[in-house]
Amino acid sequence: MVGLDMTTSARTQVGIVGAGPAGLLLSHLLALRGIDSIVVENRSRAYCEARQRAGLLEAGSTELLRQVGLGARMDAESLEHGGIYLQFAGERHHLDFRDLTGGRWVTIWAQTEIVKDLIRARLAAGAQIEFEVSDTEVTDLSSETPVLRYTDAAGTRHEVTCDAIAGCDGFHGICRESMPPGLLRVAEREYPYAWLGILAIVPPSTDELIYSRHDDGFALHTMRTTQVSRLYLQVPADDEIEGWSDDRIWAELRRRLEVPGWELKTGPITEKAVSPMRSYVATPMQYGRLFLAGDAAHIVPPTGAKGLNLAIADVTVLATALVSLLRDHDPSGAAGYSDACLRRVWRATHFSWWMTTMLHIDPHQDRFGAELQLSQLRYVIASRAAATTLAENYTGYYPLRW
Ligand code: FAD
Ligand code: DHB
Repeated sequence: MVGLDMTTSARTQVGIVGAGPAGLLLSHLLALRGIDSIVVENRSRAYCEARQRAGLLEAGSTELLRQVGLGARMDAESLEHGGIYLQFAGERHHLDFRDLTGGRWVTIWAQTEIVKDLIRARLAAGAQIEFEVSDTEVTDLSSETPVLRYTDAAGTRHEVTCDAIAGCDGFHGICRESMPPGLLRVAEREYPYAWLGILAIVPPSTDELIYSRHDDGFALHTMRTTQVSRLYLQVPADDEIEGWSDDRIWAELRRRLEVPGWELKTGPITEKAVSPMRSYVATPMQYGRLFLAGDAAHIVPPTGAKGLNLAIADVTVLATALVSLLRDHDPSGAAGYSDACLRRVWRATHFSWWMTTMLHIDPHQDRFGAELQLSQLRYVIASRAAATTLAENYTGYYPLRW
């Protein structure tokens, strides 16, 4: 319907802002329980499918994706890992998660692949995903019919009346800021370093991930497939990628990762970028009929790979709450959404902060700080209790229910 002001009006049950993993998975879960949604995204489909980000799933995230029909390609192509290596003081030690946690594991499966599968599944089911929108707005949030407005790629303005709106628009989105001023309480930390991440066409030099604390800074060897490696280096917080030639990156990775008898294989670098590191939690994650999920509400530093797993967990809780609210007229899940998510968010926030500060070199670090880090690392590899703490947090502490 076209109104006098040339705005097209529409009606849906849930308006979802953002086609990252949170928004797309929410739309998929809602559809499985018969709830309609629209997803609006300001980037192109190609951009969303190519954006290099996370790559490691907790056991519960993998199980959920499988349970909701998104497991076929993941099961065929992903890599299952039963532990990690922790390296410090020139020695590499293995932590066996299966042994420590009674059989739990993690899965290497890139965020890009999850996003591709989700977009394909949603479009095949006839879902509406609007890419390349602009001027997204969410209003009337305290009413039972909140409104989502956007301008589509062709320039037409749309107004969608919803029963609920999900802000899945990442850390720099508009939904969090659309809440009334003064409502949100923010807890945050900035870290005095950043990560330089590369993707390289070379088989991984390791069977499981290597987390290395080195006096020159942290390094991580992870992977995407049996043919593609992903590696990260701690760099100064304000460092620019232009200063990092491929040769310099490989030399630094070699210095920080190599131990006697082990060599880092190198290959062509296809992607490199510097990302800042921050912890941030905004509370509450809900105002009226607006619900925030994933990076829109909280971010963690990447060490320990919790960001994507938290986004998956948030929308699993949110989908259940919205189904109760909209199908069964039971508002209790929606009212408890924020508290239900924040327990897990804070556990992951603590774990990510702990892994980060245990493994990175603070530029202002003194001898005392360095010795505490080394003592903690020695304790983690020597004490079964300490190793289990790391293993149960890494593989996912709180179960996901769907
Ligand atoms: P996002 O993936 O950010 O998706 C939000 C979407 O909303 C985006 O597509 C965005 O374009 C869209 N959007 C924003 N504003 C609007 C608007 N106004 N209108 C419409 N759409 C909008 N986590 C790990 O676990 N391991 C990692 O190695 C790792 N690396 C990372 C590297 C980088 C550079 C970044 C930024 C994050 C990384 N993360 C990592 C975190 C992880 O990728 C995120 O936690 C995850 O993407 C969160 O998913 P999301 O759907 O909540 O948000
Ligand atoms: C990856 C990223 C992480 O931050 C991490 O701790 C483990 C794996 C990854 O990109 O594969």
